[in-house]
Amino acid sequence: MKSPLLDSEVVHDILGIGFGPSNLALSIAVEEHNKSLPADSRLNALFLERQPRFGWHRGMLIDDATMQVSFLKDLVTLRNPTSDYSFLCFLREQGRLIDFLNQKTLFPLRVEFHEYFEWAAERVSHLVSYGSEVVSVDPVRGDDGEIAFFDVTSLDPSGSGTTTRRARNISVAMGLEPHVPPGLELAERIWHNSQLIPRATELADAGQPVRRAVVLGAGQSAAEAVDYLHRTFPDAEVCSVFAKYGYTPADDSPFANRIFDPEAVDVYFSAPSEVKQSLIDYHRSTNYSVVDMELIEALYATAYREKVAGRERLRFLNVSRIRAVDAASDGGLDIAVEFLPTGEKQVLSADVLVLATGYRPRDLSSLLGEAAKLCLRDDGDEVRVGRDHRVETVPEVTAGLYLQGGTEHTHGLTSTLLSTVAVRAEEIHRSVQAAKLPV
Ligand code: FDA
Repeated sequence: MKSPLLDSEVVHDILGIGFGPSNLALSIAVEEHNKSLPADSRLNALFLERQPRFGWHRGMLIDDATMQVSFLKDLVTLRNPTSDYSFLCFLREQGRLIDFLNQKTLFPLRVEFHEYFEWAAERVSHLVSYGSEVVSVDPVRGDDGEIAFFDVTSLDPSGSGTTTRRARNISVAMGLEPHVPPGLELAERIWHNSQLIPRATELADAGQPVRRAVVLGAGQSAAEAVDYLHRTFPDAEVCSVFAKYGYTPADDSPFANRIFDPEAVDVYFSAPSEVKQSLIDYHRSTNYSVVDMELIEALYATAYREKVAGRERLRFLNVSRIRAVDAASDGGLDIAVEFLPTGEKQVLSADVLVLATGYRPRDLSSLLGEAAKLCLRDDGDEVRVGRDHRVETVPEVTAGLYLQGGTEHTHGLTSTLLSTVAVRAEEIHRSVQAAKLPV
């Protein structure tokens, strides 16, 4: 029976919420498997993305920034090394395969990997509805009390109205959201680093003078923002403010890197909670608040060169915190910075403040509404998630709710990263396919 709410009779086997690399990898896994299956066993999948077209951290596509993951951990290779959705196939199609190899690197440019993602997304565009922000997920309760479906409602691309679609399984992969520290607010001259390139380009195009830019934070994005602003505004002083003494190098050594292996997810998943916590603590420096050594050295070399030349545009205000940000009468900002060891304060007159203050998981409860109440929680009030990335629910729910990202407490450090997207896509696909098969 067709509900008056629904836009069609179609019941999707998988409805994806968000179409970043995680659900893109899943869509390709579905597409490739469907080709090998008889029509009645194929999965009917659709992915809803709020952006008008595919985009992966566009605000941080800095021209010389490189990937922090091997290109072999692309959307498919660890799942299916013969897939023609691989980064290598993309390179071959662009006529750059041999040129890339001659660079002798595993780490492509971020802009190039973005091109790869776009290329792959274009090939599965029949499975995606862009401009479709999901605003609610509602469980559908049958007469017998079973919840076998979710109704997923999204805003229409036209901006007027909504569409509701029904699904047996949903795959939530909405990524993280920019974090703004308490006491600070985004404004015309206060940006989160996720907006860095468009906002800096606007200023540069408008010919607005930038005499001083301040960057708050000590992670990879902060260091990249400092470097980018220093190059983009050649007359500006760029001040990097952070509480540490110096940037911490990212640990990308081979043994530590194994924490991102698919097998490490198995080990982590089955470990007791105190072991999980110690693994996160031991290996935090593979990912959080750390900077690639090459960039640290480049920034230091630039600062030293300027010291020798007697014109220091790059300044590091370490062991310091921003205490207040006020609008200045000239349209700029007065930023009060405290040097923590002495409590001494200085006010920096700046044209721009960039908050490179990280990202946080999105609040799922408001999106999932009633559906969130059906999810089981652990002692720490975190959602319980199975090894197949399926959320554990009360028994009457037979519909599947899969999470990609936001599962660091169950699946470890790779949860929000690219390292295992191909393998995770396979695991989710297998789980959904198994539920579809007649018993
Ligand atoms: P991602 O955030 O990419 O995508 C989520 C999508 O969901 C977005 O397109 C968003 O618009 C959409 N969405 C959100 N809410 C929605 C809603 N209600 N309805 C519809 N759509 C919605 N990791 C790594 O392993 N190696 C690396 O080199 C890097 N590099 C890197 C650079 C930068 C600048 C950042 C900020 C992060 C990285 N990362 C990374 C980590 C990064 O989180 C990871 O690469 C992927 O973006 C994770 O992919 P997802 O698809 O899970 O989320």
